[in-house]
Amino acid sequence: MFQPAIETLPREQLRKLQNERLRVTLQRVIDRVPFYQKRFREAGIERADAFSLEDLIALPVTTKEDLRQHYPFGLFAEPMDQVARIHASSGTTGKPTVVGYTQQDLQIFGEVCARSLSAAGARPGMMLHNAYGYGLFTGGLGLHAGGEALGMSVIPVSGGMTDRQVMLLLDFGAQVISCTPSYALTLAEEFQKRGIGPKEHNLKYALLGAEPWTEGIRRQVEKGLGVQATNIYGLSEIIGPGVAQESVEEKGSGSYVWEDHFYPEILDRDSGQPVPDGAIGILTFTTLTKEALPLIRYSTGDLTWIKREHDGTRTHAKMGPILGRADDMLIIRGVNVFPSQIQELLSDIPELASHFIMEVSREQTLDHVLVKVENTPEAHLRFQTLSTESDTPSGRLQKLIRQRIGLSMAIEVEEPGTLPRSEGGKTGHVVDSRKMS
Ligand code: DLL
Repeated sequence: MFQPAIETLPREQLRKLQNERLRVTLQRVIDRVPFYQKRFREAGIERADAFSLEDLIALPVTTKEDLRQHYPFGLFAEPMDQVARIHASSGTTGKPTVVGYTQQDLQIFGEVCARSLSAAGARPGMMLHNAYGYGLFTGGLGLHAGGEALGMSVIPVSGGMTDRQVMLLLDFGAQVISCTPSYALTLAEEFQKRGIGPKEHNLKYALLGAEPWTEGIRRQVEKGLGVQATNIYGLSEIIGPGVAQESVEEKGSGSYVWEDHFYPEILDRDSGQPVPDGAIGILTFTTLTKEALPLIRYSTGDLTWIKREHDGTRTHAKMGPILGRADDMLIIRGVNVFPSQIQELLSDIPELASHFIMEVSREQTLDHVLVKVENTPEAHLRFQTLSTESDTPSGRLQKLIRQRIGLSMAIEVEEPGTLPRSEGGKTGHVVDSRKMS
């Protein structure tokens, strides 16, 4: 563990610390951010001293739209001469979401990323091949600072130029890689194409995040790159990567939310009320230590669960995998569908690769979905010779979609390597031409 005392702090003490930090954060925004001043006055709160976590429920959530309306710096709680760095994430509409950090925020950013790297298996003295994008995106610089804080040698490769990445992995011998899961698949394919096996590289651990992924993708990446792959979660508004991290010893049971800095709640999608532990809803965070951009009950839009009670080695809450974003949801003939559901079903069909695109269109009044997938190279030849529809992987996928989602979708199986591959950034899976018409 990178910070054993804090990572295993008994829950009552953790809660006490959270309450103390919440009051400081709340007073900070009441004193410095007119948007929160007004909001809290309307909710009858002018001072933070008697406030506690239980009272959060009375406060409205903060949304991406609130950030957008105060673009670029309107929600900052520090003057610009105290802001040491700016990052931004691209939005679906026009202007990016802009976030700022003081020196102390950057130090904490490095600390939570170091904690995450350590939970993923990295140790001081190891080398980190950091293939998250450097730039306005928080992934590159965040993991970079984390690797340095942990005492690793960091290779700031950034995304893209796969040939060069493979060369550096072989020549430098990094033990740890950080990148998006889709880019890890691109690299795994490249290893396979070139016949690169475990003896030719030193990779042991991979931190995958910034987009949803599945157990099926974990299996492919682990096999293809010879690593143990764990989930890293985060978002620019809250700090960047390092909000939560899966422990390599407890794979598959959720990711630890670093609760001494980020207080999580899960709110019901419809009512906005907190749901019991383990139930799925919208993940919402209150930052407890951020100086430049403290956010109270920020609604991430990500759907998952949290469990405060679990038998992990650390005491912090665990969150589940992201099942989708509330705003990723497609409505097809009245049925709610998340692209992650297709991704999940693909894990059940070993002959199909994880790459897919959903093309949504409307003919007159009827919605149509064409799911384009690929055979894995091994399955490609074998299944071309099969005769009956339901015997084929595509037939099985179609059946699973009908059974589990309740919709019929057309499936088109492409040759291996034909769908677009990740160049390092986040991958989109939906082309919805209904929005264009
Ligand atoms: O993606 C920060 C990050 C960088 C996380 C590197 C992990 C690794 P944004 O660009 O602001 O920040 O995007 C945040 O990405 O609300 C989720 O919808 C999605 N996301 C991030 N991590 C995961 C994950 C970075 N592990 C948005 N699983 C979030 C699923 C993820 N989705």
